[in-house]
Amino acid sequence: RRANALKIAVIAGDGIGKEVMPEGLRVLRAAAERFGLDITFDEFPFSSWDYYEQHGRMLPVDWKDQIGGHDAIYFGAVGWPEKIADHVSLWGSLLLFRREFDQYVNLRPVRLMPGVPSPLAGRKPGDIDFYVVRENTEGEYSSIGGRMFEGTEREVVVQETVMSRVGVDRILRFAFELARRTPKKHLTSATKSNGIAITMPYWDERVEAMAKHYPDVKWDKYHIDILTAHFVLNPQRFNVVVASNLFGDILSDLGPACTGTIGIAPSGNINPAGDFPSLFEPVHGSAPDIAGQGIANPVGQIWAGAMMLDHLGHAQAAAAIVRAIEEVLAQKPLRTRDLGGLADTETCGAAIADAVARSA
Ligand code: NAI
Ligand code: MG
Repeated sequence: RRANALKIAVIAGDGIGKEVMPEGLRVLRAAAERFGLDITFDEFPFSSWDYYEQHGRMLPVDWKDQIGGHDAIYFGAVGWPEKIADHVSLWGSLLLFRREFDQYVNLRPVRLMPGVPSPLAGRKPGDIDFYVVRENTEGEYSSIGGRMFEGTEREVVVQETVMSRVGVDRILRFAFELARRTPKKHLTSATKSNGIAITMPYWDERVEAMAKHYPDVKWDKYHIDILTAHFVLNPQRFNVVVASNLFGDILSDLGPACTGTIGIAPSGNINPAGDFPSLFEPVHGSAPDIAGQGIANPVGQIWAGAMMLDHLGHAQAAAAIVRAIEEVLAQKPLRTRDLGGLADTETCGAAIADAVARSA
């Protein structure tokens, strides 16, 4: 392979995934051209209802060989509940990628964009700008536990939280590294060591130990209950927020909700060690209710592309895409209807690609 060449596996999936993906690719191609990046896109038809209908499964047997050697996976959305149950389509594809490729970080930027009314009164672009880093493989979401005396008065259920030193340290290291790269160099840890008195004090202990390796990063911690209140009341306080699987699940929906619409939020499922490709996708699903009309907002897909370039070491190109998104969202004729705009999917995507091509 050519030095610096990037190979991206592209999976559009179902519904509006097929409509927003071409816009994501259009913008990435514009960025590649503008910044002299050498990117190859390999498109794969699997992880979709169409593929399932033909083959009786969501993925080919050798899916790992097909996409495991790529530098990253650029993903649209999967799910078509009218045809196939969500647990079959999602567990048979996207969730397998996340697990088999050990994507132990879920990363979500939270940023208030122009043209997007915040549900928080009086907030303007610039006021809210931070990241939620969620541990994605262990913690509260474990399969250790069980049920006894089922159906009787003595019925008992137990589910254990699992925190391993390896698992906790690797998510904290990622979060501190990210904080170090930001101008504010500040990290917040989500805890609940006053109530969950074994695993959460352990989490706190590992945060303190990790912080010693990052003397340039200021850090603090909040219990999860008051932390959710501060997300709403004082979002300007945050820069990088790191959390266990359950707390991160909640924060990574609450954060983006404070900045407006599901149509623009992106997400990275990252294997920082680089043993496997990381996956970048919009937060939204396949939106069957609007699919096929050409009106889906492509910004979540496009912003996920920016995250992917940033992850692959092309920060300048990534920042240019984010600036282009901001420029276009500020203009009513160029943003989509979910944001009170007038544009269709393609008009919005083309405008962002154009802004990237013109960027300084
Ligand atoms: P959804 O995110 O697809 O849609 C929720 C609502 O938001 C809908 O009213 C939709 O029209 C609107 N919306 C979503 N994205 C939009 C966009 N880009 N522009 C404008 N409006 C947008 O969630 P829903 O309806 O619960 O799920 C639909 C399917 O997607 C299901 O099969 C679900 O399992 C799957 N799904 C897949 C995800 C993934 O691939 N990562 C994530 C979430 C859901
Ligand atoms: Mg969630």
